[in-house]
Amino acid sequence: FIRGFSSTAVRNVVIKQVTVIGGGQMGAGIAQVAASTGHSVTLVDTSEDILKKSVKGIEGSLKRVVKKKFADKPEAGEEFIQKVLQKVSISTDVGSAVQSSDLVLEAIVENLKIKQDLFGRLDKLAPAHTIFASNTSSLPITDIASPTSRLDRFGGLHFFNPVPMMKLVEVIATSSTSKETFESLMNFCKALGKTPVSCKDTPGFIVNRLLVPYMGEAIRLHERGHGSKEDIDIAMKLGAGYPMGPFELADYVGLDTMKFIIDGWCEKEPNNPLFQSSALLNKLVAEGKYGRKTGEGFYKYK
Ligand code: 3HC
Repeated sequence: FIRGFSSTAVRNVVIKQVTVIGGGQMGAGIAQVAASTGHSVTLVDTSEDILKKSVKGIEGSLKRVVKKKFADKPEAGEEFIQKVLQKVSISTDVGSAVQSSDLVLEAIVENLKIKQDLFGRLDKLAPAHTIFASNTSSLPITDIASPTSRLDRFGGLHFFNPVPMMKLVEVIATSSTSKETFESLMNFCKALGKTPVSCKDTPGFIVNRLLVPYMGEAIRLHERGHGSKEDIDIAMKLGAGYPMGPFELADYVGLDTMKFIIDGWCEKEPNNPLFQSSALLNKLVAEGKYGRKTGEGFYKYK
């Protein structure tokens, strides 16, 4: 009996119950959007403290959302916030959290071994119909899925920061992802109110494959003395219609994240000029200046 070919493999799963693993900015944002659109969500992390912070973050973000959506009905806004928060439960026990889950979505640290260990463990704990997905920004979905026996029910769901505002989700099918799983994931994104696009399991999928080299080239342009950070940011905002310039965006995404992505790609394709880090990026990361989250990156933040 091969699990991958059981009858569950050819069923279209309607995703109602979601387990999000990782209570960081991404995981919390995904939990928020899923709960806001009527899904039952369990948010999992390693400590109650982290999870309490995640819920506080969700509450703060929901306040921003309702300020606009319920501008002239603050009471309805407050009611909406409470309703959404009731849809989110928190847990530090991943085994029990996946018991009745239709989708397990992982948004933990970008470390292949840790992700593989997690999914290998979950494979034995989750029901057979449960779809697994990773929100990785740079690691191959095929590698993350490899320790599981549900390669047909495994895909990528890549969200963008800030999750409540960014309308896109990249849906990644590997060569083993079944048509049914892919369709379930696409339908889930639509149920979240997002626009999904289909991606191959290639480095950076679509958005990061274009965005990360673009930010890298902006840094090199500045290093060559061909423009100040401020002027480059203004130029791209006013001349190309980007909401943030490349330095603002790099600080927003996190310089550690950006360097991690580039270094990973460089290891695979050392001669690709688009996959090279730069002296300035390396220096800032070495100094612990990761951008907004640490209070300083290319710019200083209060
Ligand atoms: N939750 C809820 N609402 C939020 C929010 C959040 N986390 N962040 C911003 N908002 C809302 C604000 O409340 C505000 O609403 P309003 O218009 O009703 O006042 C609205 O968004 C605009 O916010 P601001 O006025 O503070 O600032 P901006 O107009 O600059 O918008 C932005 C903020 C939406 C973040 C915009 O600057 C933007 O789109 N920036 C680019 C972001 C981007 O490119 N993200 C992708 C990064 S790559 C990635 O994530 C992939 C990963 O793998 C690395």
